[in-house]
Amino acid sequence: MIRIAHISDLHFGREIPEVVEALVDELHALHPDLIAVSGDLTQRARAAEFLKVRVFFDRLPQPLIVVPGNHDVPDYRLTRFVAPWSRWKRWLGSDMEPVVEGDRFCAVGINSARRWGPYLDWSRGRVNLAQIRRVEQVFSQGAKDLHILVAHHPFLLTASSASRHAIARADIALPRWFRAQVDLILGGHVHMAYSGVVDGIVVAQTGTTLSSRLKGEPNSYNRIRADTDSIEIDNMVWFDGGFKCQDTARYCKRQAGWVAG
Ligand SMILES: [Fe+2]
Ligand SMILES: [Fe+2]
Repeated sequence: MIRIAHISDLHFGREIPEVVEALVDELHALHPDLIAVSGDLTQRARAAEFLKVRVFFDRLPQPLIVVPGNHDVPDYRLTRFVAPWSRWKRWLGSDMEPVVEGDRFCAVGINSARRWGPYLDWSRGRVNLAQIRRVEQVFSQGAKDLHILVAHHPFLLTASSASRHAIARADIALPRWFRAQVDLILGGHVHMAYSGVVDGIVVAQTGTTLSSRLKGEPNSYNRIRADTDSIEIDNMVWFDGGFKCQDTARYCKRQAGWVAG
């Protein structure tokens, strides 16, 4: 059994201290094999916010895999264009597309946030051809029981999130990553919790785990149990002073890829 805690859209600067403290305790009790953090760690990419993120990460059980979101690029002055990742690198290190391996899993992060987003919308994200190739290469270098990809922008939208934009070039990436044996993609950005299967790959989204930037849903994170041929995703929702499991989505692996049920 591989245990993953998937948290997202922390938005330090708008964090709720009570939720932060509860999550730290809960993640220690959970003993996950991996904590995946799918971007938007800060609200406005301020130095003080990155410092809070650093302190928070240092309190968590390891290992973590962390990728940036659109809110982690400064949205003001020249910094966005001249040195968009300087603050990230100062507080969180230079590897913005990490690879984290365990005995039974391999997780790859990609940075989907852009100085100029698609159609000049800085909030939107994109995967480029080099990133698609790199993911293929990593997973071709020795298969594990579970191959995980972490990116901020969503590869799946549902009826409730249909007004948002999926990551650009998903239509190119997903069939290639299915052939590269990607099992599970973890994302954020829309601040809503849901999961499903796209092109034979399980895509799981979670809401804003720690912040008051709620989009009609409470704070949430995903508690995931996975094996070679099964993935279970608990939607953990903040309610009455703690995270409670609201529902569990189940997926199993068939010859033609992952299916619900
Ligand atoms: Fe966000
Ligand atoms: Fe975002």
